[in-house]
Amino acid sequence: MAENLIIAEGGKEEKYELLYRQVASLVEGERDEIANMANVAAMIHCTFGFWWTGFYRVAGDELVLGPFQGPLACSRIKFDRGVCGTAWKQQQTQVVPDVELFPGHIACSSLSRSEIVVPVWQGEKIVAVLDIDSEKLATFDEVDRVWLERIVELLYK
Ligand code: SME
Repeated sequence: MAENLIIAEGGKEEKYELLYRQVASLVEGERDEIANMANVAAMIHCTFGFWWTGFYRVAGDELVLGPFQGPLACSRIKFDRGVCGTAWKQQQTQVVPDVELFPGHIACSSLSRSEIVVPVWQGEKIVAVLDIDSEKLATFDEVDRVWLERIVELLYK
């Protein structure tokens, strides 16, 4: 795939649609999971200009920081802790409109106001989560959930 990310004009749907196609083409030509996570984080981050976009990978009973874009983040998160650990435990995407109202939210940055965490499946197992933080309240909705779930599905297809 070309090394240039193309960002669609228009709304979120249009942006995700083009992003999805570019991710599909990227992962088709590369099977290294870290390389793919790194580029997928960069592509999402640059398309939308989020505050923090990255992966935490499952390692035993913890999540360990993986490829990301944005400021320094916590290295390890326990099962069931924070939004990330909750998404892993509940095996479900977490859409958090206001992180201050989420019990146990881990504040890696005080500027983060809303968040989405999407489990990454390899077959029947969750092997990572995609975490995105926004400086604005209520950034993420069903459109983000649906498209981000589709995008991370491409990683281990
Ligand atoms: N807020 C996350 C922790 C990771 S950072 O935001 C990058 C959580 O509560 O799981």
